[in-house]
Amino acid sequence: MSVTEPAANVWVLRTPNSAYVLSLGGEDVPLAAHWGAPVDDETAVALAKVPSDPARGSWESRLDGREEYPSDTGLRFTEPALALRFPDDSRTVRWMFTGSAVEEGHLRLRYRELTRPVRLTLHYRVSARHDVLERWTELETDVPVEVVRADSAAWCLPPFDHPRLSSLHGRWGADSRLERTALPPGAVHLGSRRTTTSPMHNPWVALDDGTATEAHGEVWTAALAWSGTWHIDVQRLPNGRVVANVGAGHEAPVARLSGGTTYEAPKSCGLWTAGGFGAASRAWHESILAGVLPHAGELRPVLYNSWEATGFTLDEANQLALAEQAAALGCELFVMDDGWFGRRVSDNAGLGDWLPNSARFPNGLGPLIERVHDLGMRFGIWVEPEMVNPDSDLYRAHPDWVYASPGYPRHELRNQLVLNLGHPEVAAWLHDWLDKLLTDNDIAFVKWDMNRPVTDPGPYGDLLWSTRHTLALYSILDRLRRDHPAVRFESCASGGGRVDLGVLARTDQVWTSDNTDASDRLHIQEGFSQLYPARAMTAWVTDAPNFLTGNRLPLKFRFHVAMAGVLGVGGDLPQWTADERALAIDLIAQYKRVRPIVQHGQLHRLRSPRESSAPALAYLSATGDEAAVFQFLDGHRYGEPARPARLPFLPAGTWADADTGTRYPAAFLATHGLDAGLFRDHDSAVTHLRRVADA
Ligand code: DGJ
Repeated sequence: MSVTEPAANVWVLRTPNSAYVLSLGGEDVPLAAHWGAPVDDETAVALAKVPSDPARGSWESRLDGREEYPSDTGLRFTEPALALRFPDDSRTVRWMFTGSAVEEGHLRLRYRELTRPVRLTLHYRVSARHDVLERWTELETDVPVEVVRADSAAWCLPPFDHPRLSSLHGRWGADSRLERTALPPGAVHLGSRRTTTSPMHNPWVALDDGTATEAHGEVWTAALAWSGTWHIDVQRLPNGRVVANVGAGHEAPVARLSGGTTYEAPKSCGLWTAGGFGAASRAWHESILAGVLPHAGELRPVLYNSWEATGFTLDEANQLALAEQAAALGCELFVMDDGWFGRRVSDNAGLGDWLPNSARFPNGLGPLIERVHDLGMRFGIWVEPEMVNPDSDLYRAHPDWVYASPGYPRHELRNQLVLNLGHPEVAAWLHDWLDKLLTDNDIAFVKWDMNRPVTDPGPYGDLLWSTRHTLALYSILDRLRRDHPAVRFESCASGGGRVDLGVLARTDQVWTSDNTDASDRLHIQEGFSQLYPARAMTAWVTDAPNFLTGNRLPLKFRFHVAMAGVLGVGGDLPQWTADERALAIDLIAQYKRVRPIVQHGQLHRLRSPRESSAPALAYLSATGDEAAVFQFLDGHRYGEPARPARLPFLPAGTWADADTGTRYPAAFLATHGLDAGLFRDHDSAVTHLRRVADA
């Protein structure tokens, strides 16, 4: 909301519901004084005067756990946020404060190095619209320097007796699962050295004192807006303090700067709440809808995606058949997945040859797109622009366009290699064919996939993993979006391998996971929702048995789980029975009625699938007048009916079931709950509630 300086070198950053206080300590070192509940200026000044923890013996520093941006030299022993190496092999730095500047919620603290012409700026930014504080740093140098590490922020928390860490972990087909665990003394390292965010960890953490719940307690949480390699190191220090260093890059260095150049770290976002994990997620979602997602106010259409139905066997006829069925169900966007181009009849060949396969599309894409439009849907297309199959015309013409370490064997994954986007000719080619595809065809949606990490960086070494590839990708995406403002993009990396606040600023939704098993999805979506809003979470209904797990879950259950996000359909529709189609028509129509509540409302996680065989969640509309309540039975035993889900968040008044007309006082729903009558495993219900005038 604002930045004030109530005393010399004491700054207060205020969001609508929190305050962050920092001040300069001895030797101009910026120290964290408070990150938490709103405070007035007088309290902020008092907090800034609280002495640092006494150091015990000579093995600790009073700066440990208090310093906003520790470097790796001087009297400090925590993990550095900043480490520089100069050509003379020296690493010593001493930062001299040169001044501060405040402009529209943006605080800059400026420093210069004591003996070398290097400048450092610490940035802090708050907004009146949400509770997220952004932090990042900028290094400018007039002399060559290797930037071993230049994190976006070190987030300092108060001391805790029993700190607890929440994070998201996974692997292919098992993305974004929530892990909540005691933070051990020492450091927990999360990160990715896979060129991209990766499904293994997501750049987000939440910390609490071990007692926070979904609805209560203080939670400190931080994320990184970056789609390249990254790290979050959470330290529990001997003095009880907790610090989370958040930054781009994995192994050193993140940059090599020549004289006259600058390195700007990506933004790290931090958020404090006293309302538990639920309030933390709602605050994240609000900030992402207010300031990250490009077209957050739009409603995302119900899409159909052909991947699980036709795989690599697609052609014009089977896509037309799917499109006709998808339209009949009520889908609004038809997305043709992998296999439409070059000799891409399997994952062995064709990547890089981005012209329609002439046997499969003898007259190009035009007839299919036209028919999709006639059916009342928009048309979307799958691409994987950063990749090439060695068996492709592109690779045969330009074998030197891929990342490779000369003299060493290359490593293929999924039979593909990665294009070197740092090469201007490659980046220009990539941009130009996509630009032409979007110019020549009426395409409304691009699913941008990425199915392998870089492994052979060649002469680009660690810089490639750190920044180079990602910056080139961002620049191409930014340009395409600028030149094709009507096109919407989905980020996919074998599912949720590139989901982060950096890519969400450039895409409209993400493919959450290749795992479409609705039971697993309850867990995946719960994890996803810790940071990311339903508005960005694509969820398809696919066939039973599920291709990955073999589970045969009821169609209604599969729909209800997917309806908690951006609903999509991905089944082999010609195989669906008439009854299944009729049910799908009803459920898609119901989704469209609750869609604004789901996509733009506030999420309340009511019962976690990690803790209950009757998971439940609800969305409350932005106006507070409508709610969509999702209840499931999953892994249920003994035929016990599910307990009604309590809805304590509903504004006071009388609420009515929009489908049956049954009325409930808000107090009844808060105390007794909404009984959906579920008693068999994989029963499920979505209830649309409306606040009505009191009877
Ligand atoms: C991985 C994606 O996650 C899938 O949805 C699908 O698009 C395949 N790639 C296609 O190769």
